[in-house]
Amino acid sequence: MANIIAPPPWRIPDSLVTPESVYRSRRRFLRHLGFGAAGTLALASAGCGNSESAVPPVSSGTNSAGGLDAPAAGVGKYPARRNPDFDPKWKLSDEKTAATYNNYYEFSTQKDRVHRLVGGFVISPWPLEIYGLCDKPWKGDLNDLIAEFGLEERIYRFRCVEAWAMIVPWTGFPLSKLLEKVAPKSDARFVRLETVSRPNQMPSYARLVSNGYPLPYNEGLRMDEAMHPLTLVATGIYGKALPKQHGAPARLVVPWKYGYKSIKSIVKIELVARQPATLWETLGPDEYPFESNVDPAVPHPRWSQATERMIDTGDRVPTLPYNGYAEAVAKLYKKS
Ligand code: MTE
Repeated sequence: MANIIAPPPWRIPDSLVTPESVYRSRRRFLRHLGFGAAGTLALASAGCGNSESAVPPVSSGTNSAGGLDAPAAGVGKYPARRNPDFDPKWKLSDEKTAATYNNYYEFSTQKDRVHRLVGGFVISPWPLEIYGLCDKPWKGDLNDLIAEFGLEERIYRFRCVEAWAMIVPWTGFPLSKLLEKVAPKSDARFVRLETVSRPNQMPSYARLVSNGYPLPYNEGLRMDEAMHPLTLVATGIYGKALPKQHGAPARLVVPWKYGYKSIKSIVKIELVARQPATLWETLGPDEYPFESNVDPAVPHPRWSQATERMIDTGDRVPTLPYNGYAEAVAKLYKKS
């Protein structure tokens, strides 16, 4: 696994790159339509604005719900040992900015509000089930998986389809370990993942449903993508349990794909034979297709993907094919 991450050749100053005119006109357009006018517009409508400056301390992920839930999964296991194969010595994005600039639509479509609305979300205990086309389906608590697989830290680049990006240290275990555990059958060609459905704890849930979102949030990967060593089930970030706004207690991280593939607060994983319908692809197949590999050469229908804005510094830098992971994953997409 050594050398799969190229050193960052992309730290160029903001002033050298095209200004954000594309985004500004997009925002005007979306303001005109209003949120919820069409599901396909909603992800973009969250925009790329800066987070608020006055924010409460970031939750450690351990019972910030005022005593409603037990300690978060993996307590006592953070910080985990950093895997030297994923330690590219990049400068990390600012932790507080990352924790106050979140996409978690079930709580809010405004990135700077999500972290304020997650207090009542109960994340422990956390039952998970893995089922479908496998010989050993499994049901249990996330803590059992953490005890079995252990945790490691990896530094990854993360790129949202909205053209913002960050570099963060995730803690977790490879999804492949979990899939191997359930012994997939040979006809399992895709994996479908689902976020917990808790309308009473997720303030925006009912509004999304009435706007036509096919909740619960769900995503999918091809089996070879799901088994790829880069694909991580993250339970922590910055050496601590995941704060709820980042998708506690367990979310996916697929660093070469746009961020919406990295589904949060996972409770179900199903192995299936056919490509599953996913939430964003259902809402906008031309804008959020199933594959969704980061590609600077393929613009989103309404904006360029050639550059991205680092969430903390505001630097605008070139986007890399497969978000910088081409050496590791391009072979998955070679047409024979
Ligand atoms: N998962 C759920 N359940 N709901 C969401 O709204 N947003 C996705 C992804 N996972 C989302 C989700 C998008 S668009 C992005 S960019 C990332 O989460 C953001 O992750 P972060 O807030 O931890 O940076």
